[in-house]
Amino acid sequence: MQGEASRSLPCSLEAPLSVFWSSGPGRLWLESNYPPGSPGCCTTATLTFCLLCLQLAMAKRLPARRLDGIDHNPWVEFGKLASEADVVNLGQGFPDFPPPDFAVEAFQHAVSRDFMLNQYTKAFGYPPLTKILASFFGKFLGQVIDPLKNVLVTVGAYGALFTAFQALVDVGDEVIIIEPFFDCYEPMTLMAGGRPVFVSLKPCPTQDGELDSSSNWQLDPTELASKFTSRTKALILNTPNNPLGKVFSRAELELVASLCQQHDVVCITDEVYQWLVYDGYQHISIASLPGMWERTLTVGSAGKTFSVTGWKVGWVLGPDSLLKHLRTVHQNSVYHCPTQGQAAVAQCFEQEQMLFGQPSSYFAQLPQAIQHNRDHMIRSLQSVGLRPVIPQGSYFLITDISDFKSKMPDLPGAADEPYDRRFVKWMIKNKGLVAIPVSVFYSVPHRKLFDHYIRFCFMKDESTLQAMDQKLQMWKDELRP
Ligand SMILES: Cc1ncc(COP(=O)(O)O)c(C=O)c1O
Repeated sequence: MQGEASRSLPCSLEAPLSVFWSSGPGRLWLESNYPPGSPGCCTTATLTFCLLCLQLAMAKRLPARRLDGIDHNPWVEFGKLASEADVVNLGQGFPDFPPPDFAVEAFQHAVSRDFMLNQYTKAFGYPPLTKILASFFGKFLGQVIDPLKNVLVTVGAYGALFTAFQALVDVGDEVIIIEPFFDCYEPMTLMAGGRPVFVSLKPCPTQDGELDSSSNWQLDPTELASKFTSRTKALILNTPNNPLGKVFSRAELELVASLCQQHDVVCITDEVYQWLVYDGYQHISIASLPGMWERTLTVGSAGKTFSVTGWKVGWVLGPDSLLKHLRTVHQNSVYHCPTQGQAAVAQCFEQEQMLFGQPSSYFAQLPQAIQHNRDHMIRSLQSVGLRPVIPQGSYFLITDISDFKSKMPDLPGAADEPYDRRFVKWMIKNKGLVAIPVSVFYSVPHRKLFDHYIRFCFMKDESTLQAMDQKLQMWKDELRP
């Protein structure tokens, strides 16, 4: 950027000044039009003062106000800590093992066969992908889904969520967020000008010695109902939930559905872990409940579905009356998503559609394998006195660290820093294990109430789980009297 401005300055120097600025640091300078030594010429000191005044007068607020208060991101912070030491990383949610062969082959196919897949495709989704998503999910949602009107392909589920918030949430609108929540819902609401309204899932007491379960964490129906006002525009649901692993029951979804209908509220449902459910639990899409399709946006992710988080292919399904507004955001932002990734995802779904319901289906095999990981992790964490909350879905579990909080309350950290954050930093440094403090999944006022849990990811290779076991064994040895 380069430019020129003439201003009258708050000093005796009246002559027009030419001020030049450029984008590089220290490249702002000022020229007086009086010759050096002439009566009109100012001294260096005056010039410096004028320059300061001028800089102040010209100072513009650089970041847009919509960024206020949302500059911190837990994934950036804890990702950095994880990369700095020799640790076993059970923090961020991604598989550290190869994707299934059929997915790798589908991608290879997409990059090597049809050269036109190197080019732009349709703005709202590569047609074979929108077609298979429509037919595949149509059955689950009990709808005839039109690939052109009811499907939008996005840059990951993140892209779907961002597009939905931008399209529907207006300044002053309220968005109900169920805590603990996938952390981006709050900044996305704020960036759209909305006001997040939080309601927490509360754990029911367990019997002595019994492990807690994510199904014990429930919404208080009266409290939930009290959050709906005439300004409520949307409610965001996440089932199976990250970080808790809760799979919402039909009765819980019916409660949410009836309140959304009663108050004319849109439900944005993030179902990226829908295939990862355990112990015979069943994932139910809220859009399949009576009267809900018309007011629901269902978000999915190929990254979570086929263990390929780097592909960043996501989608959102919903009625045309809602999706048309998301298309407006999409066509004026990313316009369309990378073609080859979409072609690969289409091929993966085509295969899964043929195998669906059979034991060889990936959607049948993956949860079985990952349930084994979950159970392995539960046993290992218990061995050092951590108390995992058994998740019924997703690839995360949270674990209760209250015993540590009472035994070692004074871990290093800022006085107002929630205990779980201090504990995770201590654990990374002293035990070589990375987890995520659960308070990052809560609104600021509720953080202190839930600062005695940390989240682990069990979508990890056997070798990573064994490395975790070794770290935990050393920890256990230290604990022995
Ligand atoms: C609940 C939830 N929604 C959305 C996403 C983002 O998915 P994607 O990688 O497809 O953008 C994640 C990623 O961790 C998630 O946990």
